[in-house]
This record gives sequence, structure tokens and C-alpha cells, in this order.
Amino acid sequence: MGRPNDELAQDNFSTVRVGLLGCGNVGCALVSLIDAESEAIAERTGVRLAITRIAVRDLAKRRSVPEIASRLTDDPMSVVEDEEIDLIVELIGGIEPAESLIEAALREGKSVVSANKDLLASRGTKLHDLAASAGRDLLYEAAVGGAIPLVRALSVSLAGERVHRVMGIVNGTTNYILTRMSESSASYEEALIEAIKLGFAEADPTADVEGYDAAAKTAIMASIAFNADITAHDVYCRGITEIVVADIDFASRRGYVIKLLAVAERFVEGEDESILVRVHPAMIRKSHPLASVHGAFNAVFIEGEHAGELMLYGRGAGGSATASAVLGDLVEAARGLQRVTTFEQPARRHVQIRPIDQLSSTYCITIEAKDRTGVMAEVADVFGSQGVSIRSMEQTDSYSEARMVFITHLARESDVQATLHGLEKLDSVVRLGGLLRVVGDEDE
Ligand SMILES: NC(=O)c1ccc[n+]([C@@H]2O[C@H](COP(=O)([O-])OP(=O)(O)OC[C@H]3O[C@@H](n4cnc5c(N)ncnc54)[C@H](OP(=O)(O)O)[C@@H]3O)[C@@H](O)[C@H]2O)c1
Repeated sequence: MGRPNDELAQDNFSTVRVGLLGCGNVGCALVSLIDAESEAIAERTGVRLAITRIAVRDLAKRRSVPEIASRLTDDPMSVVEDEEIDLIVELIGGIEPAESLIEAALREGKSVVSANKDLLASRGTKLHDLAASAGRDLLYEAAVGGAIPLVRALSVSLAGERVHRVMGIVNGTTNYILTRMSESSASYEEALIEAIKLGFAEADPTADVEGYDAAAKTAIMASIAFNADITAHDVYCRGITEIVVADIDFASRRGYVIKLLAVAERFVEGEDESILVRVHPAMIRKSHPLASVHGAFNAVFIEGEHAGELMLYGRGAGGSATASAVLGDLVEAARGLQRVTTFEQPARRHVQIRPIDQLSSTYCITIEAKDRTGVMAEVADVFGSQGVSIRSMEQTDSYSEARMVFITHLARESDVQATLHGLEKLDSVVRLGGLLRVVGDEDE
């Protein structure tokens, strides 16, 4: 229970003292939000929040929030162990020291709010179990989809629902780059430079453009949707670095857009259950709701047995949007301090991870080949030998090369991969483009 304090409790609201670990983009936005809106938050929620101590790495660094010097320390464990503090917010990021600090906080009997997708996607089950045995909350709405209340939708609103598939655009940087390539025909490199200049991408964009950030979020979404122990290592992951403007133009002519898609899907065959988790560029029908998610926005499309289809949309990143999600968790955790009983959370299940080889999809395959007689027959032979049936083909010629783009009928990933190996070996094939899986077609 939050201890009323002479200085802080000036009304009927009990004050909950919060220790903040990390005061960077999100941490500073959270401090500003709570310092400025403490009264309004108390009126709206019945909880007065006060950030009383803040741990950072560099005490001398200039920060965007004034009047925090007296609350700063460079010893985060002292914040965790401070008996005057009721709740901990971890906004440091990465694995260590965040993991040790969260574990220590839970062992101290303090609920924890975090936005740390990397940590939750690798050690989520362990931390979840520790929180359950400590009888405390571990809340992390901001770790996936920024301001979008996705974790709460999956874990609370849809708690009793049998979710079949969660599919979304969960990385704003790549969505911004692909949107710019599509709208202005900018090359991948030009769109990336623009994204870095505008603050939509980090100076080192690897985690975003290679799909690792989306893979971490996919693991978290899948763990909650299927109550299963799924980590980022289980996620098949391909980024957007091989996408060229010609791919985007082709997709557009055929009625699709290209997006970096995160998919978590449950398969049940008799007694067997498996989960396939994947992140890769995909061609999405323009009529699909996810196709109209532009720029740095995120959206997640959920398919449930009884709820049917629903989509959540919003700002997936940014200090202020992310701080809003952290604040929601803080209010929930603060209210939890006043609960007499807690519901026991079920332990996460160990489930079979379905390999990508077993995916059934329609595919888009691009080949650059020598423009000479007989090439088409050789290429068609390779498709035929793996039983991959071609639904349509478009050929454009330039100088001595031909660019052929094939869309297949429904095919097995393992057969498509074997087809790609076969094509690679052909003397007439100069280059293979990136493989695109197609979403939203009748036979998908
Ligand atoms: N930024 C976003 O839009 C966004 C969106 C969703 C989720 N998130 C997640 O939110 C978390 C925070 O992100 P951010 O963008 O705010 O990161 P950030 O700007 O890099 O801030 C990290 C903070 O942690 C502090 N810190 C680092 N190591 C520390 C240590 N050993 N002891 C104490 N403090 C330490 C840093 O101190 P100094 O300031 O002194 O260096 C800094 O204040 C991450 O988990 C991130 O994945 C961020």
C-alpha cells in the first residue's frame, strides 16, 4: 500500500512513490508527464503518483526535464532497495543491469513496470514466474506497439478468447522507409537516410531494418496471445534490406503493398499444437486493413475464435507516446498495491515451435536472368520439379537481362526454398530478388 506522506499527500488520494531506473527519451517524457499532470492523474485514477528517485548512468548529463537534480542517483540498486519506494519503473533497456534490477525489485516485493522488449523477449517467462511467485505485477504495455494498448487487449480483454493469429506492423522505422519508397520512389538507402534525419531511425538501424526489433515484439505478442514460452530465438526473421523500388512498383501494379509483417499463428492438428512466429517483408492486398498503415505508425490485427477480427492502431514509438503506455501500467500497478487478493497467473506453457519450412503461403519470387532463348523453359522446369505452381508472371527486359516476377499458387515454404536453390544454380539466372510472402489473397 502506498504510504501517505506529509509532504506528498495533500488530499484524500494515497501517494504511491515510484523509483525510476533510466531517464532517457521515455524516462524524461514520463517524469514530465507525471510532474505536470499529477493532480489530473489523481483525479482521473484515484492514485497520486510521485517519482521520488531517478537512477541514471551519467549524473552530469543535461536532461530535458528541469528540477530533477535532487532526485538523481547513479546507483540504481539503491533505488530498488529504498524502503520508501513502492513501485519500480525500468526504462534503461537491454539485458543487464535491467534484468538484475527487475529481479531484485520483485524479490523486494515491488511491482515493476518496464518497456524493455529485448529483455522480455528473451527472459519474459523467467521474470513472469518470479513476479507470480512474489505476488507482484510485472507490466510491460510499452514494450510492444508504444502507445497502443495491445498487451492489455491480449492479456485482459481477450483473456478468455482462443486467439488464432496475431499479425501486425510493429516497427515504425521500417514502415516509414517502405512508405517513403512507395510514395516517392526513393531508394532504400535514400529513405533510410531520411528516416535517420527525422529521428524515425537510430544512427545504427540494424535492429530495425534486419527485423530483430519486430522479432522481439512478435515473441512477446505470441507469449501473451498463446500463454506460451516463446522467445525471440523462436522467431523466423528477415528484414527489408533486399527490397528495391521495382518490387514495390510491381506489388502496386498487382494491387498490393509491401510491409514488414510480424505474424504469430497457432496450428492445431489433432492432439498436436504448434506456434509459428515469423517476421519478414510481405505483399499485402491493398484491401487488407494493414495495407493502409503508413509512415511510422503501427497496427496489430488479431483473429480470435469468437471475437472475430479486430485491429489496434497507433503510435508505436516516441518518448511521449511510450510514456503514456508506461503511465497506464503504473496506475494499474499502483491500484494493485491496494488489492487484498491477487489472481494467480497461469504459468506459461511449453509449446512446439513450428518451423518456417511448414508454412503454406503464396509467394512472390523475382529473378534477374540472361535474356536469351530457352530461359523461361529452364526456369519453369525448376518450379515444376518442386511442385510449385505459377499463378502469374511478369517480365520486363533491359539490355541483356530480363526481370521476371512470379506469383505462385499456394505452396509449401520448403518447396519454395528448394525452388530458389534450383534457380540459383541455373547458369542463366544472374540474381535472385528477396522472397516475398503474400497475405490477403483468396488462397492464402
Ligand atoms: N524510445 C522509444 O520510442 C521507445 C519505444 C518503446 C519502448 N522503448 C523502450 O524503453 C526503454 C528506454 O528507451 P529510451 O529510448 O528511453 O532509452 P535511452 O534514451 O537510451 O535511455 C536509457 C536511460 O537509461 C540510463 N542508463 C543506462 N545504463 C544505466 C545504468 N547502468 N544505470 C542507470 N541508468 C542507466 C541512461 O542514463 P544516461 O541518460 O545517464 O545515459 C538513460 O537515462 C528501452 O527498453 C526501449 O526499448 C523505447
